[in-house]
Amino acid sequence: MNTTLAHPLDPLSKIELETVMQYARDLWGIDSKYFLLTCQLAEPSKAEVLGWTPQSSLERAVRISFLHRPTSEVYEGVLTTNGAAISWTLISGAKAPVVMTESALAVKAVLKDTRVRDALKLRGITDPDTQVYVETWPIGAQIPKHLDNGRRLVWTPMWLRPTPESNVYAHPINGLYAIVDLESEEVIDIEDSGVTPIPMTPGDYRLSQTGGGVKLNDLQIVQKDGASCTVNGWNVDWERWNFRVGWDHREGLVIHDVRFDDNGVERRIGYRMSIAELVIPYGDPSQGTYRKNAFDTGEFGLGSYTNSLTLGCDCLGEILYKDVHLLTPEGDVREIKNAICMHEEDHGILWKHVDIDGHVEVRRGRRFVVSSIVTINNYEYGYFWYFYQDGSIEFEAKLTGIVLTLSDTPGIVHPSATEIEPGLWAPYHQHTFCARLDLDVDGEKNTVIEVDSVAKEMGPENIHGGAYITQETPIENEGMSGRMLNLMTSRYWKIVNPNKKNHMNKSVGFKLVPEGNSFPLASPDSVIGKRAGFMYQHLWVTPNRREERYPAGEYPFQHEGGAGLPSWTKQNRNLVNKDVVMWYVFGVNHIPRLEDWPVMPVERIGFMLKPTGFFKRSPAMDVAPSMATCLRCNGDQTQPCTCNH
Ligand code: CO
Repeated sequence: MNTTLAHPLDPLSKIELETVMQYARDLWGIDSKYFLLTCQLAEPSKAEVLGWTPQSSLERAVRISFLHRPTSEVYEGVLTTNGAAISWTLISGAKAPVVMTESALAVKAVLKDTRVRDALKLRGITDPDTQVYVETWPIGAQIPKHLDNGRRLVWTPMWLRPTPESNVYAHPINGLYAIVDLESEEVIDIEDSGVTPIPMTPGDYRLSQTGGGVKLNDLQIVQKDGASCTVNGWNVDWERWNFRVGWDHREGLVIHDVRFDDNGVERRIGYRMSIAELVIPYGDPSQGTYRKNAFDTGEFGLGSYTNSLTLGCDCLGEILYKDVHLLTPEGDVREIKNAICMHEEDHGILWKHVDIDGHVEVRRGRRFVVSSIVTINNYEYGYFWYFYQDGSIEFEAKLTGIVLTLSDTPGIVHPSATEIEPGLWAPYHQHTFCARLDLDVDGEKNTVIEVDSVAKEMGPENIHGGAYITQETPIENEGMSGRMLNLMTSRYWKIVNPNKKNHMNKSVGFKLVPEGNSFPLASPDSVIGKRAGFMYQHLWVTPNRREERYPAGEYPFQHEGGAGLPSWTKQNRNLVNKDVVMWYVFGVNHIPRLEDWPVMPVERIGFMLKPTGFFKRSPAMDVAPSMATCLRCNGDQTQPCTCNH
């Protein structure tokens, strides 16, 4: 196969996807009895990637999984882009995630089901085909006993669409849910707890409905010489940073091989960084909500919901876009144009000092942004990675879209939801992310250390009462893995390279700085608590294993629980001076506000990775001043920001 592969970690190209799909058909007899689940790059080993040169082999391995529809079995194949089969494995006990095609078929089955149509008629809805919007939600493991025979099920909340342009989430149809068998595409049960009024206050948000009359003057971001970066294929050079952008069918945006040029020495910081899971447990016990516990990454395949972004709207200024490609359930290539946005942003003051003699030194800071946005049903998630001039990296999730809703008779008490319009509630819920951070700080062998700030009791060691010290606890083995934040000790974690010292003879490192967080309120004994066991700790550390990819396991759909981090860490493997992975769990406890309606303004949550003893001193000192228009220096003449006025 003739390919223009630039690097072993590049996202799979259109040609590669077409080729491997054809090989899969030939090798394993893939036909219409199969749905493709995911098609991912089977990433080469770290040693292979780091040893790669442009003269190395262009053949790549691809991991491709299928649902065999007649048996509901999941198969994983690994093959190369040259058609060599490496493996074909039945994944015993795995249940396939929701396939988009199955969702569409399930919706059709629900809308033509006579029991559903009769129940809708009782609610005054006579034309379900145009008036009813159906969503297919993984049932979790919350399956009524009489239906639990191992099949894959979705459960379908419904909303009324009074006009074609209505915001359906303003009009939930309460009490009526169909349970659909995804294999037979049959409605196997109806849950109908009785008719309640459908709230009819519109939740309009389209411009044609709102008018959008609050206007500001035009803002242009102009870089007449272009953005200050060099993008070569999927490799990005910006300021002193160098890294690769990646994209995955399941995780979406991925950042690879992050390096920083430290006075001519290219130093490694991160090998692979991604958001490996996103789960949203709902905290309302109503019939319409308690099963809403979707794993947006593991049960839906978040990457396949990536938006095409628009210049001037999603992104402003001098933008570089990347397109991505994926395989559909039928094995066709789908292109997502402008899936990844890259640009630089002014980020305010980087540093400043006014000396006692009045001399001013000030630097404006910029950051480089790599982002993408997904839409999964009602919600949007933006994944934003930022690279800063002081050597820091930040991840920020931007949460927006429409809150999920339930309806009931106005005046009924729902203690786990906010009534946002009469008869319309937005249930409490949490958005829980898990970042998989394979950092390599100046090399693979690193150790993670927990740092607490603590005060000694007043006495000989703390005479004045104001003294405090830091205590460092190395996370030595997985028995210690699973750590919690502690606001009382300003706890943070750092990952250091014990084999590499800075000029003060301390290990070089990076610290993980949390930016707000939450704790799961679902009981660990609940169905979601078992299935998403990783969420009960804020930080996990594991030895790096290529097969340990997702914190709730490979196949969370209807999984009985316990998979992923809680299971792996029982091995109690050694973590000192090893190639380790940090898993940071962070989330938003979302108590919906009236102001989150009808479309929620962006909420942000994330974390930072900051150098700590990695550099000799602040790398931001080397940043050139920007030019100022100083009115005292010859009128309008442009001067560096270091003028003494
Ligand atoms: Co929310």
